[in-house]
Amino acid sequence: MKGIILAGGNGSRLYPITKGISKQLIPIYDKPMIYYPFSVLMLSNIKDVLVISNSEYIELYRNLLGDGSKFGMNIDYKTQEKPRGLAEAFILGEDFIGDDNVCLILGDNVFYGLGFGAKLKNASSIQDGAIIFGYYVPNPKEFGVVEFDENFKVISLEEKPEKPKSNYVIPGLYYYDNSVIEKAKSIKPSARGELEITDLNKEYFNEGKLTVELLGRGFAWLDTGTYEGLSEASEFVKTIQRRTGLYISCPEEIAYRNGWITKGELIQLGKEYEKTEYGQYILSIANDREAI
Ligand code: DAU
Repeated sequence: MKGIILAGGNGSRLYPITKGISKQLIPIYDKPMIYYPFSVLMLSNIKDVLVISNSEYIELYRNLLGDGSKFGMNIDYKTQEKPRGLAEAFILGEDFIGDDNVCLILGDNVFYGLGFGAKLKNASSIQDGAIIFGYYVPNPKEFGVVEFDENFKVISLEEKPEKPKSNYVIPGLYYYDNSVIEKAKSIKPSARGELEITDLNKEYFNEGKLTVELLGRGFAWLDTGTYEGLSEASEFVKTIQRRTGLYISCPEEIAYRNGWITKGELIQLGKEYEKTEYGQYILSIANDREAI
């Protein structure tokens, strides 16, 4: 399976923070925002990743992540000239995806919770159809909303409805079979001029090939779209990391635990940031800190 991180958009809801920098590069506590979705792809066992962003920022992502070899991965880059919608990722990524299945994650989505790794590995082994997730929030109007019957069978999907039919929304993490490329080409822009991911999901739903997995109570899907959300996400990461001594979304650690890099390579990566707590953490992993 291939992975795509969509890290474009103009970030206007976070101005002036994002006036001069791409939103997905600003920090959530001790690491750039994109590390969090990038780690989700790694935990899904995905080694081939395409990062999509605006032409003015794409080199900054290349400086940060490189060609992926330091993580034992392959990373490609592609520009999106205008934010024409999430589903455009599959059109821009057509050559990169080739004949494979694909996972799309939004560059500003942060996930954390028990059992997530197993859910991701299961979703990434999909052969046919689509797997997306459902998450209970108090403000469903701002998202793609999914309505269920009493047996949690999907009844409807709507993008940012005025009157939401449920409190369950769809986070920015989607696993699709290869037909997503043709489906993305066939949908029409919405009233706001975007190729909507919800329209793609509806196509799978109409074919009876959409699975929505619930991320239960106690699972954290954090909002990074507002000043408050950003600051709360940073506090959340800080609190969990300091309490447990284990990091949320450290790509170097995941690469090592996945067996994609050797202990020697991990030590090299740790030494690069030796003066920081982050670098010291990487070195402690190389010193056989226990995995949980
Ligand atoms: O976060 C989950 C939600 O993401 C879903 O529940 C919605 O169904 C989905 O439409 C999307 O809603 P948003 O309104 O949050 O999407 P937004 O336009 O803010 O874009 C999400 C991220 O993707 C943002 O960081 C910018 C980036 N983006 C967006 C568009 C439209 C791109 O890189 N390119 C684009 O064309």
